[in-house]
Amino acid sequence: MKIEDILRSNNQDLIRLVKYVTKKDPYKNTEYNINKNEIQRIKKLKKRIGKNEPIEYIIKKAYFSKYEFLVNKNTLIPRVETQIILEYLKNYKNILDLGCGSGAVGISIKRNNLKINVTLSDISEKALYIARKNAQNLDIKIIKSDLLKNIKNINIYDCIFANLPYIKDFDSLPYSVRLYEPKIALIGGGKHGLEKIENLINQIEERKWKGDLYLEVDPFQIKYIKKKNFIIKDQYGKNRFIKIIFK
Ligand SMILES: C[S@@+](CC[C@H](N)C(=O)[O-])C[C@H]1O[C@@H](n2cnc3c(N)ncnc32)[C@H](O)[C@@H]1O
Repeated sequence: MKIEDILRSNNQDLIRLVKYVTKKDPYKNTEYNINKNEIQRIKKLKKRIGKNEPIEYIIKKAYFSKYEFLVNKNTLIPRVETQIILEYLKNYKNILDLGCGSGAVGISIKRNNLKINVTLSDISEKALYIARKNAQNLDIKIIKSDLLKNIKNINIYDCIFANLPYIKDFDSLPYSVRLYEPKIALIGGGKHGLEKIENLINQIEERKWKGDLYLEVDPFQIKYIKKKNFIIKDQYGKNRFIKIIFK
């Protein structure tokens, strides 16, 4: 296997390669055909892994659902816990993915069914730069917006999915998350980390939008959200999403 293929392949192969390259005499091994420059390059990767940098940022890609996405330090690494929501969103016609980050959710929906109209939006221009690249060749609208501020035609959407930042206690996060993932994607604000989510609910009510809102939250936060119609569990059985129907 060539190095480029390995870097493009899954994490396990990369870790195996790094382990192998940092063995005493990698040239002798016949498993990989590696030259000196490549060895240096992989040793650099090893250093980054050693500093707890997530593999996804090192190889600049992450998997979500069955798709590959470009990610970098300006986008959250899409989490496996989020994936189950695709099942719930697949029957809507016009979806706004608010706080889209890399675009993993909205783009997966679109790729699964090209008939669904998808809009991606985020407050971070740097995240949208990556989302735009991931959405290349797909008919997807992209809007830079602080919550709903620049979403003028909200009534075209029958569904809003929002995985906004909801972390209450930044210091409780794993070291690699605190050090490498963008703060703007993590910290929710307010007493329970729900400030952004509450602001979104208020904006929706002010604009009298009718439709279904799906929110991703931390399981402990569910009790603090007054308005909720359904609770949806993630694949680990934890209460992860709230569905609110606005009539
Ligand atoms: C937890 S990440 C989720 C990213 C992506 N949806 C995912 O599931 O991988 C939250 C995202 O919300 C964005 N964000 C933070 N504050 C926002 C705001 N006021 N309006 C819109 N987006 C916001 C961040 O830039 C970040 O991309």
